[in-house]
Amino acid sequence: MALQLGETAPDFEAETTEGTIRFHDWIGDSWAVLFSHPRNFTPVCTTELGYMAQAKPEFDRRGVKIIGLSVDPVENHAKWAEDIAETQGAAPNYPLIGDGDFTVSKLYGMLPADTEGDPTERTPALNQTVRNVFVIGPDKKIKLILVYPMTTGRNFDEVLRVIDSLQLTANHKVATPVNWKEGDDVIIAGSVSDDEARETYPDGWESPRPYIRIVPQPR
Ligand code: BEZ
Repeated sequence: MALQLGETAPDFEAETTEGTIRFHDWIGDSWAVLFSHPRNFTPVCTTELGYMAQAKPEFDRRGVKIIGLSVDPVENHAKWAEDIAETQGAAPNYPLIGDGDFTVSKLYGMLPADTEGDPTERTPALNQTVRNVFVIGPDKKIKLILVYPMTTGRNFDEVLRVIDSLQLTANHKVATPVNWKEGDDVIIAGSVSDDEARETYPDGWESPRPYIRIVPQPR
């Protein structure tokens, strides 16, 4: 059964390039992004891991920890990190899980439960379903799941945009409209009555229809 939004992200212990972690303890009170890769030395993933190293300050600024995963033993990650540094201009500056026994990939529904064998004998194409992004909140609940095909590099700027929306809507009773970005107007949540909304927005709201109530982004 695939993981669903709102479920608790499965906890696990794993070997990473920064030592053994227990996932929920590692998240602590932060938000987290877990992004997965089918094998080391795959071209699209190489660009993604380099981009995430460059983008890490943007995740830090939002209180978000980032962690990669690849279906290779952790011992194989150092050489790939060198390649990433040389070809993308930055080596991973965040932990990379070595999921050589497929534990995390199976727990997160990215590989079938009966997957077994030597991970280094599997082709990237065989693991092509291990290309997910999970955003997890400080409450350890899954807030976003993205699944990408192997031929399309991920858009991590979109992940940052969704995190901005998730963090805003966790603190205010609003929703964000299509293509919203930080600073744009927002929509008063449907759960808020007009009477309640008037208390928060005494100047009122723009309302092209009674069910669409637009206000400036709350701070
Ligand atoms: C990649 O280029 O990252 C890739 C190649 C084959 C399968 C999955 C990913």
